[in-house]
This record gives sequence, structure tokens and C-alpha cells, in this order.
Amino acid sequence: MSQSLQGQTAIVTGGMRGIGLAIAQRLNAAGAQVVIWDLAVDGWDSAANGFEPVLRQAVDVASLASVQGAFAQVLERLGQVEILVNNAGINGPVLPCWEYSPEAWDKVIAVDLNSVFYCCRTAIPHMRERGYGRIVNVASMAGKDGVQFISGYSAAKAGVIAFTKAAAKELAQDGVLLNCIAPAMVETPLMAEMTAEHIAASKAKIPMGRFLKAEEIANMVAWIAGPECSFTTGFVFDLSGGRATY
Ligand SMILES: NC(=O)c1ccc[n+]([C@@H]2O[C@H](COP(=O)([O-])OP(=O)(O)OC[C@H]3O[C@@H](n4cnc5c(N)ncnc54)[C@H](O)[C@@H]3O)[C@@H](O)[C@H]2O)c1
Repeated sequence: MSQSLQGQTAIVTGGMRGIGLAIAQRLNAAGAQVVIWDLAVDGWDSAANGFEPVLRQAVDVASLASVQGAFAQVLERLGQVEILVNNAGINGPVLPCWEYSPEAWDKVIAVDLNSVFYCCRTAIPHMRERGYGRIVNVASMAGKDGVQFISGYSAAKAGVIAFTKAAAKELAQDGVLLNCIAPAMVETPLMAEMTAEHIAASKAKIPMGRFLKAEEIANMVAWIAGPECSFTTGFVFDLSGGRATY
């Protein structure tokens, strides 16, 4: 039997669609009450998505004030947060770094890296006080390998990995575990931002010869986010179909 998250509150950023939605569905199925943070939270389809989040909040995770305001509301409404999944992210341009605009670079770093710091910085004091927390940061294989033409994204995700390792050590005696996941490419709306060549090159790198499914990520996250994950912190869980070599 998979572990129960009954009675726990889980915040999932970028949970309106794609990987975040799959994670939210899986955590809900394990018994957690799920809070969705996303830029826009209208148009949630309970029938199609299979459940009703306890709360949906319009949050820009690249803004510390927005994150802090939303977290305060969660505590006011629900009293506690056990799980934080930092999933919201953007791909940014697919360009050689010398053509990558500084504005696009700043945005990718803000949404993909600063957001993780902001959400962790906001949630950690509450989790430390309660002596329990599970934080799962969604990095990427790009953060381990460095993928050509998405240098900003690769750098941001490498930053997420290093931040997770550093913060996990700081929290190792506090009952608050931080881990991250490094998925290979999944078929989601994010692909609309990529070129056909980039997609084909990504698939060719995966020994299993197929793309990852969002449900496979969700299953892994549901374990990392629960009490059964008790002696692993600061770790990068790969979902690479055999691609990862370190
Ligand atoms: N799709 C892949 O192949 C793949 C592979 C590895 C890692 N990832 C990572 O997984 C995560 C989810 O990706 P996805 O493919 O589901 O993307 P997606 O574009 O389908 O969904 C991302 C969600 O994040 C939200 N979001 C974007 N910016 C935000 C902000 N500033 N504040 C709040 N919400 C914001 C979007 O509105 C959207 O709902 C990202 O961090 C991405 O980098 C994706």
C-alpha cells in the first residue's frame, strides 16, 4: 500500500496544468489537501481534473511579496503546511547564449530559480517550528547536463539543485527534508515553446526511447513528499529513462 498523506496540506506551485497538475492529483489521491498556486487559477475543471483543491490562489512565484501573502492566507485558512512542491517554471527561449537577451535570462532565473528560494524561505520557518516538512523542488536533467540552446534554463535548474543541497544540510536536524527531482523531457504544453529539432534531440538522448509521463513524476514526488522518505535529503532523484550517468 502506498503511504498515506491523510491530514496533510500540500502546496503545489504551477499546479494548474502539466506536471504540477499530475503531482497535485497524485498527492490528493494519497489523502493530502492540495493548495494550488499558479499565475491564473480560473477555469479549474473539477470533473476533468478529478478533484477539488482545498484552495486555489493566484500567485506569482517570482515575487516574494506574492508568495508571502499567499502563504499567510494558507496558514490562516488551513493552519499548517507539511508539503511544498516547487514546480512552477518556464523554458525561456531556445537560442545560443550569445543571442539570448538579458531580459529573457533575468526572467528565466526569476521564475525557475528565485521562485524556489522565495517559496522555501517563506515556508521553512513554519515547517521548522512544527519540526516537520517535505519540500520537493522540480529541477531538470538540463540542470545536471547543461543542454545547448537553453543555457538560462540549464543554469537556473543547476541552481535549484545546488540550492536544494545547501538548504537540506542547513535543515538536516529539523525534520524538514528538501529534495529535488531531475526529469527528462515530458510531453506537456511547455513543448509549445520548443523547436521540433530540440524535441527530437531530447528524445534521442533517452535510452528507453520514449518521453517521460507526468504520472511517473507524480508517483515519485508522492513518495519523496511523505513520511516514508525519512533519511534522504539534499538528493537529486532522476527520472531519465537511463540517460543520467551521474
Ligand atoms: N516538460 C518537461 O519536459 C520538463 C522536464 C523537466 C523539468 N520540467 C519542469 O517541470 C516544471 C513544470 O513544467 P511543465 O512542463 O508542467 O510546464 P507547463 O508550462 O505545462 O506548466 C507550468 C505551470 O507553471 C505556471 N507558472 C509559470 N510561471 C509562473 C509563475 N511566475 N508563478 C506561478 N506559476 C507559474 C504556469 O502557469 C503553468 O501552469 C517546470 O519547473 C519545468 O521546468 C519540465
